[in-house]
Amino acid sequence: MSDSKNDNPSAESSSRTVLPDPEPRGYFEGESLTRRKVFVVASQALGGVAAAAVVLPAVGFALAPVFSRGEERWEAVGSTDDFLPETYRQVVLTETPGIGEAGKTTAYVRQGSAKYEEDPAEYIAISTRCAHLGCPVRYVQAATNFICPCHGGVYDFIGKRIGGPPVRPLDHFQTRVIDGNVELGPRYSVTNDLKAVRTRDPGEFTGGIWEYLYPPRPTTFPPPSS
Ligand code: FES
Repeated sequence: MSDSKNDNPSAESSSRTVLPDPEPRGYFEGESLTRRKVFVVASQALGGVAAAAVVLPAVGFALAPVFSRGEERWEAVGSTDDFLPETYRQVVLTETPGIGEAGKTTAYVRQGSAKYEEDPAEYIAISTRCAHLGCPVRYVQAATNFICPCHGGVYDFIGKRIGGPPVRPLDHFQTRVIDGNVELGPRYSVTNDLKAVRTRDPGEFTGGIWEYLYPPRPTTFPPPSS
């Protein structure tokens, strides 16, 4: 006995509709995406949006202080009559408000001196922060020098380094006179030629190629000449 189905395979195949092989597999003819692929892409996109919603605010919160400069502060430190051209007077000012005593710093202020080719109508404010590692320097009138007690750094009358390990002159503060009062503004650093540049941290050189090797932080203010 023989099975008619097996006996005539060509008759069986002619009775079935033969679909073309999908290319690529899983796609119907004319499709560019399978439903599975659509769900995969959509879920990945949603996952990306959810991750960005969590991560981006945290990154922004962490990095914002690095780039936000804050408000420019000016503070009156005394009447113009309080300052002389031949000596300094120490003053206290708030550099970072809102953190109490920790936000205060000191500066030495004097009137401009013709001896150093300065305008007598301007006022010079020199920071007490040593340019080596940041110890507070002290002005010694007998020597007309600034002396650092930590590692023996010495600066001359106008704040230029003349001895010890400091890498640059002492920083300055911008000054102005309003209604007969001397006001101190943002800090700035200077090169060995006393050219004003943006504030650098202690230990950082200024001038020449050092300006690029030790770039200023974005939060620092432009120096007075620019
Ligand atoms: S911190 Fe002033 S000399 Fe070192």
